[in-house]
Amino acid sequence: MIWLFAAILVLALAFGGVLLRGAPYVPTLDAQAKAALELLDLKPGQTLLELGSGDGKVLVVAVRAGLNVVGIELNPFLVAVSWLRTRRYRKQVRIIWGDFWRVRWPECDGVFVFLLNPFMTKLDGRMQTVKRPLASFAFKISGRKPAAEKSGVYLYRY
Ligand SMILES: C[S@@+](CC[C@H](N)C(=O)[O-])C[C@H]1O[C@@H](n2cnc3c(N)ncnc32)[C@H](O)[C@@H]1O
Repeated sequence: MIWLFAAILVLALAFGGVLLRGAPYVPTLDAQAKAALELLDLKPGQTLLELGSGDGKVLVVAVRAGLNVVGIELNPFLVAVSWLRTRRYRKQVRIIWGDFWRVRWPECDGVFVFLLNPFMTKLDGRMQTVKRPLASFAFKISGRKPAAEKSGVYLYRY
């Protein structure tokens, strides 16, 4: 019984704790992942950084478009799922288990996020130093006009 309780607690922490760090796990739809790539307009061989890479769905869409991808994900279960999902693309994919507010971001040519609204202003501050285009699904940055919008994905230039 104690094991069941412990297992539920671990799952609750992994899937619920991220609410305080960026967003809960909700996967992006294929159409939105493709819209994000179109807006970012990255070329084959360039690198996409996904903050909160979830189950790796967007990583797969990006890698199939010829991009190199780096995902940073806090939930260890999703890191494992995304690692399995992307294992055939090992040379193009890197998945970092960690909190993207703390992990050093790798060099990249564009960034994709699907985070909750309260974190967008903090993200905007970080993007000012990264100086790469940002595609955000569903949530805008308050006080900033997106450079473009497609299928609910907003593009910001820095
Ligand atoms: C809304 S889901 C989006 C998943 C994926 N990006 C997609 O679009 O399909 C947000 C993801 O970010 C992860 N996450 C939230 N805060 C995080 C943080 N501070 N560091 C790393 N991952 C985080 C969650 O675990 C979750 O998988």
